[in-house]
Amino acid sequence: MPPETEPSAAILQSEHDARIVAQFTRWAKPFGDLPLHSQADAMARLRAAAAVSATARVLDVACGPGIVACTLAADAAHVTGIDLTPAMLDQARARQREAGLANLDWQLGDATSLPFADESFDVVVTRYSFHHIRDPARALAEMLRVCRKGGRLLVVDATPSPETQAAYDRMETLRDPSHASALTQQQLRALGRQAGLHEVVVDFHRIEADVASIADPETLDALIAMLDADIATGEDRIGVAARRGETGVSFLFPVSVVAWDRVT
Ligand SMILES: C[S@@+](CC[C@H](N)C(=O)[O-])C[C@H]1O[C@@H](n2cnc3c(N)ncnc32)[C@H](O)[C@@H]1O
Repeated sequence: MPPETEPSAAILQSEHDARIVAQFTRWAKPFGDLPLHSQADAMARLRAAAAVSATARVLDVACGPGIVACTLAADAAHVTGIDLTPAMLDQARARQREAGLANLDWQLGDATSLPFADESFDVVVTRYSFHHIRDPARALAEMLRVCRKGGRLLVVDATPSPETQAAYDRMETLRDPSHASALTQQQLRALGRQAGLHEVVVDFHRIEADVASIADPETLDALIAMLDADIATGEDRIGVAARRGETGVSFLFPVSVVAWDRVT
């Protein structure tokens, strides 16, 4: 009999990918419909950091329902969106149709193994994906590979503080089983440095979410209990400034926008 071994990284990765596809198949429509994901101020920050020109070829990695891709398509020559979840791409196509945009295409694929030639794009962006990806350095390396020299890379994601990172990950894993781990802003910036990128934008803002609008019904009570513990002590151990208002419990996602230029 062969000796018992640890499951291979490939099997663990495929189990994780299966969790992602299950989660975002269920959430494809509600995720795209939530106003907090299209908030004007946040989109303006992203657009400013991406600095897309009218001739730019743009790639949106883990594009989900195409909110970012369709926004940047207004500035760009062409935008490609790629995602692991087919249901998300269906939503993206519907969004494109509703917006009457012609300069987009969509592909099914993995952020850590992008099916594009080196230096195919001028701007490569990703929003709210790195916390789902077990090896974000590899995803950034892939973004870098497909970005031309002199082009721009942009990562937007939730970045808890170092002190709250562990509690934040516990909350997010409870809310969304496809969560891997959220980087702190310092860790995200370090990934860019290690990849040899030239940092050009570091921006931070908070996005408010009603917990009932972003959680599955079966985990809602446990999630509210976790946030209530912070509300009761006033200690903010999760770092999301949870509060109880007239409509229930809400909290603030800590979001970083980090952009780099590819110099070599
Ligand atoms: C929270 S949603 C964000 C969607 C979109 N980027 C946005 O900001 O509106 C995360 C998306 O990442 C996708 N995703 C997660 N891991 C991925 C991977 N390894 N490769 C491609 N897509 C991935 C999921 O399918 C999902 O659509």
